[in-house]
Amino acid sequence: MTDQVAKKRRSHKQFVVCKVADLSPGQRKIVDLDGKCIGLFNIKGQFYALLNYCPHNGGALCQGPITGTALPTEDYEFVYSYEEALVRCGWHGWEFEIATGKCLVDTKLKAKTYQVTVENGGDVVVHI
Ligand code: FES
Repeated sequence: MTDQVAKKRRSHKQFVVCKVADLSPGQRKIVDLDGKCIGLFNIKGQFYALLNYCPHNGGALCQGPITGTALPTEDYEFVYSYEEALVRCGWHGWEFEIATGKCLVDTKLKAKTYQVTVENGGDVVVHI
């Protein structure tokens, strides 16, 4: 569910989306910022923002599960990695690294990312 327009903090397209305490590790918040639908994620205490648009075929990327994945291996070993660092698109299951937007399935694809800063002792600011 998308929150409607978040409070605009300053000009030049910087928006206070929430307080640090409002978004616990492992949670996300989807907001509309200046007409862009953006997912703000708290991944292990670090904040990241992605455009809620999957570069594969336009799915609502940020609404998919936050997860990790099994890495390809040469033998029958099971190696789980990227724990809670990926979002899996709900349309076709492609996985994207939340911090970078990198697509694990097709390295030529990248989800749009935005800079996030924490300012004034706890305001989470998305720069678009
Ligand atoms: S639209 Fe996201 S994986 Fe296909």
